[in-house]
Amino acid sequence: MKTKCGILMLIAFITVTCICNAQDRIQKKYTEQYRPQLHFSPKAHWTNDPNGMVYYKGAYHLFFQYYPKDIIWGPMHWGHAVSKDLVHWKELPIALYPDSLGYIFSGSAVVDSNNTSGFGKKGKIPMVAIFTHHDPKGEKEGRDNFQNESLAYSLDNGNTWIKYKGNPVLKNPGIKDFRDPKVMWYAKEKKWVMTLATLDHITFYSSPNLKDWKKESEFGKEIGAHGGVWECPDLFPLKLNGKTYWILIVNLNPGGPNGGSATQYFTGSFDGNKFTPVDTQTRWLDYGPDEYAGITWSNTGNRKIFLGWMSNWEYANQVPTKVWRNAMTIPRELNLEQTDNGLLLKSQPVAELKNIYTNTTELKNVQVNKNVNLSARVKGFESRYMLKLRFDKLKNYAVRLSNGKNEELLIGYDAVKNQYYIDRTKAGKMDFQKDFAGRFTAPRLTAVKGSDITLVVDKASVEVFADGGLTVMTVIYFPNSDFNNLAITSADMLKVSSLKLTGLHSIWK
Ligand code: FRU
Repeated sequence: MKTKCGILMLIAFITVTCICNAQDRIQKKYTEQYRPQLHFSPKAHWTNDPNGMVYYKGAYHLFFQYYPKDIIWGPMHWGHAVSKDLVHWKELPIALYPDSLGYIFSGSAVVDSNNTSGFGKKGKIPMVAIFTHHDPKGEKEGRDNFQNESLAYSLDNGNTWIKYKGNPVLKNPGIKDFRDPKVMWYAKEKKWVMTLATLDHITFYSSPNLKDWKKESEFGKEIGAHGGVWECPDLFPLKLNGKTYWILIVNLNPGGPNGGSATQYFTGSFDGNKFTPVDTQTRWLDYGPDEYAGITWSNTGNRKIFLGWMSNWEYANQVPTKVWRNAMTIPRELNLEQTDNGLLLKSQPVAELKNIYTNTTELKNVQVNKNVNLSARVKGFESRYMLKLRFDKLKNYAVRLSNGKNEELLIGYDAVKNQYYIDRTKAGKMDFQKDFAGRFTAPRLTAVKGSDITLVVDKASVEVFADGGLTVMTVIYFPNSDFNNLAITSADMLKVSSLKLTGLHSIWK
């Protein structure tokens, strides 16, 4: 009897301990000091570029440059996450591991509906990933052909991946930086088009079957920003008033408008062979220092959804997080607008963000006599919310996020310079890298009288969409305690015509 009782007690003890541990694990997940609550980041370890973004059968796939052994860059894998709504993410097992041909660098994925590749079996439609094999040995030996393009395919909707035996499918002709293929279906000529970053320009290739590639043309040696290497390109059509334009995104590192990495783009036309820009202007998709390697999802029809890596190569390996390092931006919907500065892309946080809205406060005609304190209104929001301001008449202003430790982040508009700015010089930790502290600026790109601005604020980042998303800035920061206070300041008797403040649930709960 005694033994029976003892065994039962032991079982009860083990059960309770197991339940507590499981709960502990769930609670501890994604709760570290700077862990993004609105943005995708891997549970643990290092990430950089988003890769292979493709929509298929109700799921948005997000692969990402991943090093599963440390929180610094290392031999690259493709991590994998999926989302049904672009907001809540589920991390899946690693999709691609390095092999004898090298590390798995950035690239894209497509749904090969017509089975042009022949990878489809028994009526199963293949998903095909096109990526760069980076051979570290070749790099060390000083060769110039250590980056080549390869394929992998999935016959179970992206869950598991098989590398193609004939890899690489596109061999390096002797260009050191030869990487980050973005592939799209060019329906008019029933062929695949690959946009590839080749050092200081783009090379377009085409293929009937994803395996045999032919060079079509080059673009960009003498146009755009060239302060660094061209990386992670993207090419897609976008309509405005019934007319189709082609957008060519080119990421650049370094040489961004506020230092280090950044995303530039060109608008123009594409005829299956050649990209022709409308003009020679350099344009930036995001002026902040902390959006990089951004490209769009494949297979989303006319809707174009963009996502970038929320960091900068200047300090990505040093930012003061433990457990994991770096995150992605909020997915953003891209559209075109004809402005006084020509044809421009505008970005908006995807509408699906409404899936995590909590309480909203809406105020009209708020008079800013030096300062309006909104701290009481963000109480309980745990430093994650969306703030939308509308000004019928634009004047100087600053939105101030702060804590009780004399640390602050300023997001504002300077009427004299006609510039937006984000100032993180007093925003907390910055001694991990000499260039991290800074005040970053971006031009206002429209001359219309009224203006609006949307801020998406997370634990340690802000994304700013001004004038309908014509000027965008992304900045990360590391305050010593959360920025729980919020205020709007202005020396100019500013009137905020409308103010909307919406709390946001954590995507991990
Ligand atoms: C851009 C990049 C890519 C490369 C990958 C390596 O951030 O340098 O060009 O494929 O990162 O991780």
